Amino acid sequence: MSRAAKPEPVDELDEKAAKAELKRLAETIAHHDRLYHEKDAPEISDAEYDALRRRNEAIEKRFPALIRADSPSRRVGAAPATGFAKVTHAKPMLSLDNAFDEEDVRAFFQSVRNFFRRKEDLERVDPAAIEVAAEPKIDGLSCSLRYEAGELVLAATRGDGIIGEDVTANVRTLKTVPHRLKGRGWPDHIEIRGEVYMERPGFFALNAEREKAGEPVFANPRNAAAGSLRQLDSSITASRPLKFFAYAWGEASGPIAATHWQALEHFRRWGLAVNPLSRLCRGVEEVLAFQREMAAQRAELPYDIDGVVYKVNDLDLEERLGFAARAPRWAIAHKFPAQQAETKLIEIIIQVGRQGSLTPVAVLEPITVGGVVVQRATLHNEDEIQRKDIRAGDTVIIQRAGDVIPQVVSVVAGRRPKGSKPYVFPQKCPICGSLAVREPDEAVRRCTGGLICAAQAVERLRHFVSRDAFDIEGLGTKHIAEFWEDKLIKTPADIFRLDYDAIAEREGWGEQSAAKLRDAVEARRRVALDRFIYALGIPQVGQQTARLLARHYRSFARWRQAMVASHDHDGDAWRELNDIHGIGEDMATDIAGFFAEKHNLAVLDELLREVEVTDYEGARVATNSPLAGKTVVFTGTLTAMSRSEAKARAEALGANVSGSVSGKTDLLIVGADAGSKAEKAKALGVKTLSEDEWLALVQSG
Ligand code: IVH
Repeated sequence: MSRAAKPEPVDELDEKAAKAELKRLAETIAHHDRLYHEKDAPEISDAEYDALRRRNEAIEKRFPALIRADSPSRRVGAAPATGFAKVTHAKPMLSLDNAFDEEDVRAFFQSVRNFFRRKEDLERVDPAAIEVAAEPKIDGLSCSLRYEAGELVLAATRGDGIIGEDVTANVRTLKTVPHRLKGRGWPDHIEIRGEVYMERPGFFALNAEREKAGEPVFANPRNAAAGSLRQLDSSITASRPLKFFAYAWGEASGPIAATHWQALEHFRRWGLAVNPLSRLCRGVEEVLAFQREMAAQRAELPYDIDGVVYKVNDLDLEERLGFAARAPRWAIAHKFPAQQAETKLIEIIIQVGRQGSLTPVAVLEPITVGGVVVQRATLHNEDEIQRKDIRAGDTVIIQRAGDVIPQVVSVVAGRRPKGSKPYVFPQKCPICGSLAVREPDEAVRRCTGGLICAAQAVERLRHFVSRDAFDIEGLGTKHIAEFWEDKLIKTPADIFRLDYDAIAEREGWGEQSAAKLRDAVEARRRVALDRFIYALGIPQVGQQTARLLARHYRSFARWRQAMVASHDHDGDAWRELNDIHGIGEDMATDIAGFFAEKHNLAVLDELLREVEVTDYEGARVATNSPLAGKTVVFTGTLTAMSRSEAKARAEALGANVSGSVSGKTDLLIVGADAGSKAEKAKALGVKTLSEDEWLALVQSG
């Protein structure tokens, strides 16, 4: 496209020239829409783009008869931000719990052992002899490949574990992913899961090319793999050296094997790549030896690994162990120890969090640690700085492990510049100037500015739009801060009432970017309950707790009613909240406290006028079982299964398991030597089952 010639003034165009010009503009604008929306790679500024559209409009005004069918003015705003189609995984793609040392690993195998009770089970899960598949933990991104009748029909990224993105066209370009399964014996449909990764030599070559072309380089092979897979143009993906290792599966129409190891062997026969370093081990000592071997080999491997993964080999045991909220109980990742490096601390800055906490952060001379460039590290709190006597100008040891924020471990003695002074922690909020106070038994100092503190407001809004919350793209911290400053956004509801015409006029914005933001906001008017709860930013309520709450209460209306009622600490609602496994009294106090605050309820009501909260659709929970939606309590000793297994079974069948009997209890399962709960249940008229009756029920379900 040529933009060199100065366009002829609209007034001077004759009909023929106008016709040609409208055609050119329609094509040019469509071209830039594509670059902007589909490739995230605009070639012209917003101002230039707006000028094209204005010119198009001006010509159309003069020659209304010439308006084309494909005129940009006929399209409402710009084309929708297409991106990737969303895919709901038939079974969620969960993450793994981590072990950081041998003690954690031993504790994991002990917990597997403690899950079972029967003698014949216990022999198979004895930590000294349990069969375990041990595999390298590849540092890439997980991907689910769906094969139907042996054909690859869908490839999806993990996304948030429940919903991922459809990257089928891109995955088809990977040589290690067969379009059709080989051999025989595969079930009619199966989701094969594994890791898409980039080998180090390919990564370096790619970065060298990018550097030459003046493009930004990738920080590490993982980012390069992720960036390469999420390309809207699959010919770009095809040009990148991506590979795939299969190591797990999701939904399958039939049984695939009796052990994990057998499943891996099948995968190999079906033409999938399985990591040849994986090993079938017996007992904890063997898996630990495997981990030490991998740690020693790590540097020589062509790809990055950040640990090893252990999986209970017997799939019958695996099935019974099942899943906790976030991760399977039958597997664990044993991460390699943190990597350390030395660098200079330039200065200490203070960040203000959404609840007003003042967090000191070290600004560092950039340094690569374990393949990632680190420029900042957390200093935790003022006591930590004092204890380690960390000062500006010091040479410090920093470390990073996995996804954890890098930390300053210590100061290198003897390298301190002359005349340096101990760091003095501010007593005032660096943003709003309000007093920052520290409660006697707390480690953090908090800004008392509350609603007037811009930092807190902006942080709350930033949390609200963040990826795991409302996931509104294109509303970064800078924009939120500006909108807050100019009073365009004060509360979350305001995000849904923005005036996009006014935004298009703002400096740094234009019609296109305003339309893109509008699309991103409009796409989020429906939100799942767990995301919604997380987005509220209630103290202590992280993603995991939000999910627990959503899973327990299911609908927003139920949750809200229960939370408001939890104000009464003698009532059933408060007890029910405390009984949720994973929610302690401290957390319950914060949650109930949030709802006791009138201001919060007003903000919530306002928001609910803008968005619809959909019921939690917990995966893996049966809806047609006799236990679906029932509140179940266990008491006494069970003989066939441990309390943990019984609880896991009940939850898998859709029950809410509670710790105490109340008017809301549907079913009490009574083991040997049951005490007061059985009596209370009787008094309340709650149905009770013996252990045998319970076993009959779960076996039928
Ligand atoms: S198994 C339900 N095996 O690590 C368990 N994961 O921290 C599914 N990963 O999301 C995961 N190598 O992206 C498994 N051999 C391996 C792995 C592996 C790398 C990644 C995967 C997962 C993450 C969890």
